[in-house]
Amino acid sequence: MSKNWFFALAFLASCQSKLPELVLEQLDTIQLATSTLKVEVLADSLNVPWDLEVDSEGFLWIAEQEGKVSRINLQTGEQRYLLQIPEVWKVRTSGLLGMVSHPDFSKNPFLYLNYTVKNDSLIRSKLVRYTYKGDTLMEPKVLLEIEGGTSHNGSRLAFGPDGKLYWATGDKHDYTYAQNREKLNGKILRLNPDGSIPADNPDPNSAVWAWGFRNMQGLAFSSSGLLYTSEHGDAIEDEVNLIQKSGNYGWPAIEGKQDLSAELEFAAANQTIEPIRSWTPVIAPAGMTYYGSEAIPEWKNTLLLTTLKGKSLRILFLSADGQSIPSEEILFENRYGRLRDVAEGQDGAIYLSTSNQDWNPQPGFPLPGDDKILKISPTQRQSTNSISPVKATEVVALDGKQLYQSYCASCHKADGAGVEGVFPALAKNPLVSGDPKPLIELLLQGKTSANGAQAMPAFSFLDNREAAEILNYIRSAWGNPSSPISSTQIESLR
Ligand code: HEC
Repeated sequence: MSKNWFFALAFLASCQSKLPELVLEQLDTIQLATSTLKVEVLADSLNVPWDLEVDSEGFLWIAEQEGKVSRINLQTGEQRYLLQIPEVWKVRTSGLLGMVSHPDFSKNPFLYLNYTVKNDSLIRSKLVRYTYKGDTLMEPKVLLEIEGGTSHNGSRLAFGPDGKLYWATGDKHDYTYAQNREKLNGKILRLNPDGSIPADNPDPNSAVWAWGFRNMQGLAFSSSGLLYTSEHGDAIEDEVNLIQKSGNYGWPAIEGKQDLSAELEFAAANQTIEPIRSWTPVIAPAGMTYYGSEAIPEWKNTLLLTTLKGKSLRILFLSADGQSIPSEEILFENRYGRLRDVAEGQDGAIYLSTSNQDWNPQPGFPLPGDDKILKISPTQRQSTNSISPVKATEVVALDGKQLYQSYCASCHKADGAGVEGVFPALAKNPLVSGDPKPLIELLLQGKTSANGAQAMPAFSFLDNREAAEILNYIRSAWGNPSSPISSTQIESLR
């Protein structure tokens, strides 16, 4: 074929109003109440695609943890590598961790990136603005630089409907930072797009917008302008928070719901805000997006949340006012492995990134071709072996042993032996096999240890059946001889 002939064909193709449908490898079919969806592989052989972002021109941006940035044309599937940032320091959970494009990208072709650097022993976390010009990223401009750490660097970036740039920073694993408003770690920061501080911030001289955070992994605005975060708890209580200006979210004095007596005291003194959802056992929530499209009507007005430990996509159904999450569904559990981020395309398609090449690979993963970008979109073709989401409450009807594994074994160990000097042994423990009353009270109220270092969390969120199942398990396992406890006894001590 002559060159001219080729160009003529290409020209003809580009003149056609409708582009030929992109043909991708299909992995699964999902059946919802009425919609049928397909899951396809948009891109593969990536290395920990930590952040996904669809710009206002409808292109998908991918930021890989090692510092690589690429852009995919979602009409043609063409992928272009645009940038490798040489100074990115990637170890475990540090690296290129945050990305957002300017909301009016055609006019302001700016891509904002956050990444970790290390010079000698000094670790820093940088917010840098790049300009997209001539199909490349150039003119890096450092907008803000904060302290970094070997872990808990956050981070996510998002633009609000107010045109401001929001940055969710990690506490860099320093327990003094999140409550210290002089420090920019463990905060939601708010900046003008040029990096200057907005005059209507809580303190016009500070980027701090809200504080008291541990290590946020998701940051998303709803269509009505509400800001949500997802955050990793410590051993328990992962969170989703609804962010308010000048809000104190309690970390490290408060973890998850305010249920320990020390937490209640701190909450009263500091007017802290509770998460709208918390998970124990932990699921390691990661990237999150607000889904507002009609393309998948069942999911309209939800937060889509990827999870790492949970290896699933969580569909969090928001109340009409967006203030609470009345229900939750789980999809893809263990199917594609760890999921790192999620983004919504302009046509309502959903893009997910896997994270099976990261520092914490799970048994059975990575799968061939990992890491991948998966595309979820409506299809007309039904399938006989489709998968469906599961209601989150339906999967937690566990027996005593399973409940113990989920809630207690991380500290007291599966064999009840505990950890010497830190977590007491429950096997052959007189408190466990003795009078039910102090045992039930301890379970419901928790207890801070004498030296204050470790705490037995309060488990009042368990229902009576679950609490009784757990206590009967620890009272009969490991040779503990004792009488059974009933749900009624639990109820009477709440
Ligand atoms: C995050 C770690 C952690 C988790 C999870 C945890 N505990 Fe504990 N637990 C502790 C600590 C710390 C203490 C000791 C508190 C103290 O100093 O008295 C404790 C104490 C106890 C005691 C009293 C032991 C004694 O000799 O005083 C019992 C019983 C107990 N836990 C049961 C449970 C059960 C049942 C669960 C699960 C529902 C659970 N714990 C989950 C940390 C934990």
